[in-house]
Amino acid sequence: MALITGVKRIGLEIAKTLAKEGYSLSVVYRSSEKEAKEIEEFGRKAGTEVLLLKGDLSREDFCLNAVERTFEELGRIDALIHLASPYFRTPIEDLSEESIQEHFRPIAQAFLILSKEAYRRMLPNEGDIKGRIVAFGDWAVECTPYRNYSAYFVAKGALHTAVKVLAKEFAPHVLVNCIALGPTLKAEDLTEEEWERILRNTPLKRTVSMEDVLRLTEFLLSTESVTGEIINLDSGRHVAGSGISSIG
Ligand SMILES: NC(=O)c1ccc[n+]([C@@H]2O[C@H](COP(=O)([O-])OP(=O)(O)OC[C@H]3O[C@@H](n4cnc5c(N)ncnc54)[C@H](OP(=O)(O)O)[C@@H]3O)[C@@H](O)[C@H]2O)c1
Repeated sequence: MALITGVKRIGLEIAKTLAKEGYSLSVVYRSSEKEAKEIEEFGRKAGTEVLLLKGDLSREDFCLNAVERTFEELGRIDALIHLASPYFRTPIEDLSEESIQEHFRPIAQAFLILSKEAYRRMLPNEGDIKGRIVAFGDWAVECTPYRNYSAYFVAKGALHTAVKVLAKEFAPHVLVNCIALGPTLKAEDLTEEEWERILRNTPLKRTVSMEDVLRLTEFLLSTESVTGEIINLDSGRHVAGSGISSIG
């Protein structure tokens, strides 16, 4: 049984893959109603249960309620996959409490609250390993954050730190890891030209494949020995130096 947040694009593919593998799913979405319903329908055909939970992860009460309802209605929690994340420009001169919180809450605060609650619900599970948590971070956090996305990067930085902190807090029973993703699907915020330039500056000259995202997620949902890792899945972006150039 897996609880997944942020199912608009990459999360949609992960949810469908997990449903195919027989996971029952609790799907947290805010505005991606169409994608949530698609997962529900996919689960129905695959013969697995899907619970849809609509709400804003910026709110602590929604995070608490999401885990509670998941446990009550699906009976257990084995995995938490946190993809939900805003991504928009915050030029440093316009940075405000509002834009900082708009990123920090759903990215980092929600991860901490969801993880804490999910951990509690994982503990009764059988076996030595009682659950696994996977967060989606960003390669540039650890390497070369680029300009104009300060609120996003600070929040993702907190997410990476939270992964290491929780890996320690939840050992030995729950494993916590992070996929530090590189260019996979173009964000709405970027122009085609910026996206092309990003790919040109990427050593492998291509986007991260969805197959690799799915394979690495599946690995982290089954590993017995990896915890506290921030794994770059980025077509080599992290060895390309500070040259994002297109957006600073
Ligand atoms: N795509 C890439 O190339 C790339 C590169 C680096 C890192 N990543 C990371 O990989 C993950 C998935 O990326 P993606 O491109 O698939 O993301 P995406 O299409 O931009 O979707 C973002 C998701 O976050 C959810 N979300 C944002 N704020 C929320 C809030 N306050 N409450 C609840 N949900 C909220 C959205 O939910 P609703 O749509 O329901 O509102 C949406 O499903 C993200 O963590 C992203 O930062 C992606």
